[in-house]
Amino acid sequence: MLTEQQVLEVLGNLQDPYINKTFKETNAVQEIKIKEEKKHVSVKIALAKTGTPEQLQIQTTIVNVLKQAGAESVGIRFTELAPEVIQAFQGEMEEDTSLLSPTSKTTFIAIASGKGGVGKSTVSVNLAVALARLGKKVGLIDADIYGFSVPDMMGITQRPVVRGEKIIPVDRFDVKVISMGFFVEDNSPIIWRGPMLGKMLNNFFQEVEWGDLDYLLLDLPPGTGDVALDVHSMLPACKEIIVTTPHPTAAFVAARAGAMALKTDHEVIGVIENMSYFESKVTKEKEYVFGKGGGEKLASEMQVDLLGQLPLQQPDWNTSDFAPSVYEDDNEVGKIFSDIAKKVIEKVGK
Ligand SMILES: Nc1ncnc2c1ncn2[C@@H]1O[C@H](COP(=O)(O)OP(=O)(O)OP(=O)(O)O)[C@@H](O)[C@H]1O
Ligand SMILES: [Mg+2]
Repeated sequence: MLTEQQVLEVLGNLQDPYINKTFKETNAVQEIKIKEEKKHVSVKIALAKTGTPEQLQIQTTIVNVLKQAGAESVGIRFTELAPEVIQAFQGEMEEDTSLLSPTSKTTFIAIASGKGGVGKSTVSVNLAVALARLGKKVGLIDADIYGFSVPDMMGITQRPVVRGEKIIPVDRFDVKVISMGFFVEDNSPIIWRGPMLGKMLNNFFQEVEWGDLDYLLLDLPPGTGDVALDVHSMLPACKEIIVTTPHPTAAFVAARAGAMALKTDHEVIGVIENMSYFESKVTKEKEYVFGKGGGEKLASEMQVDLLGQLPLQQPDWNTSDFAPSVYEDDNEVGKIFSDIAKKVIEKVGK
């Protein structure tokens, strides 16, 4: 006749239909009663979900395996696994599949601003490159779906390839890059409406093979529009950096982007002031062409750090490997970006 041990063994290999773990792993067999004389076995089984069509299937399977093992009749009661057990297993399952899972180890940083043209894309590109130079695994999403500029700024001429069902991002200066610009012919304008934008953004997460990333930077479109909102709702744990110019009015407008981040529970990790001054190569004198103090003001209003101040300067153009907006690591601005990257790593703590 069957023993409890044998029942545990034969049932242990069955799978919970909902979380794809064996009964042994989930400790699903919670009670076993054996009535020797009638060869009757009754068991109590905990499933992740009860009352489903899958439950009926697994019920039949349980009866069959127990009968094969020698029982003449079988009684089954079902109960649900404790929520914390289910959560633990679900976390484990999602971990290796999605960048967006709550257990993802990737830190998302959105680069935002109140208005256009202040240097978000310049900052996104160079911060991504600076983090990669420090040995981090970095991805960059050009989330400015209408006004994409990242491929051009980084001098990317290749297009992503498709492997199986996934898009492989383009690797440039050790940064994995994806942009709407890769999927548009001849720089033609994008003519989608709102809902398509969110879908596209979602594709950038779900359909792209990012691999293992420490940081994923998002270059947002200017202002506080649809895409910014989508990012907020899609990435609840996203951190933000606000870019502003030194003009007090620019800082005032940038504060709105900051306020939006806070409303949606995104942590602002700092402010970067761009176009802070122009330094004469001849006299080394600094001219504050766009005013002064905007970054400081915004940072103190938001109670975050001013991560850096970038002067007005074009990158040195390397004609053999042309990337018009990427500063070399020994360039003055390149060094400021390296300092900013170190501060970011310190703040995020990895
Ligand atoms: N520190 C700088 N020195 C010189 N030129 C700069 C600097 N920062 C940005 N620029 C130039 O200013 C222009 C706008 O910068 P960028 O595209 O990075 O801004 P943006 O905020 O992303 O703009 P948009 O809102 O249109 O997306 C670009 O031509 C860029 O090369
Ligand atoms: Mg931009």
